[in-house]
Amino acid sequence: MALCITNLVIFSLLFTSTIFDSADSRTFARSLFPQELGLNKEKLSHVHFYLHDIVTGRNPTAVLVAVAKTTNTSATGFGAVLVIDDPLTEGPEASSKILGRAQGIYSSASQKGAALLMVHNYVFTEGKYNGSTLSVLGRNAVTADVREMPIVGGSKLFRFARGYAQARTHTVNPHTGDAVVEYNVYVFHY
Ligand SMILES: *[C@@H]1O[C@H](CO)[C@@H](O)[C@H](O)[C@H]1NC(C)=O
Ligand SMILES: *[C@@H]1O[C@H](CO)[C@@H](O)[C@H](O)[C@H]1NC(C)=O
Repeated sequence: MALCITNLVIFSLLFTSTIFDSADSRTFARSLFPQELGLNKEKLSHVHFYLHDIVTGRNPTAVLVAVAKTTNTSATGFGAVLVIDDPLTEGPEASSKILGRAQGIYSSASQKGAALLMVHNYVFTEGKYNGSTLSVLGRNAVTADVREMPIVGGSKLFRFARGYAQARTHTVNPHTGDAVVEYNVYVFHY
């Protein structure tokens, strides 16, 4: 019996070391220098645009996709979920040059004081930024003069992005709720 156990221990030691050996020879993760990915110097960029959130009319860019039973009796619209594909423009006019789109979701996530959970990607289409994105995940206290939301990442020109976006309401139509919001985004990236 004692012999049996010893054999078993030896066997498992051998077996385990075999696993470790193969893990050594086929690493799935390794460290590398930033230069190996062409990441040389971290930059800080300021990105400025106007976001057009159109909730009414024949071509809304923000659509309500879900509500809770209690959403229509909540002062803050708690539980409403909207999907957006909002144009981003250079100036505040609807006819201004398109720089990209804000695509994602916002939902009313506060029972006291209106505040939205924002989950967006800014997808840029202009010049060298065409195809690059920035990702936002943050709280938007809509009644504040300046709402600040974290930029949690990015792609292409904005790889390794981190920073913040500051939103200021430019105009809002009190009848329809259609809004133009000015954004100043500050990001570190490579
Ligand atoms: C809220 O919506 C429900 C149906 O989803 C309806 O029965 C109810 O009357 C509405 N309440 C108000 C205050 O509009
Ligand atoms: C952006 O890139 C796409 C292809 O990826 C191209 O079709 C489009 O014309 C480009 N837009 C601009 C403004 O350069």
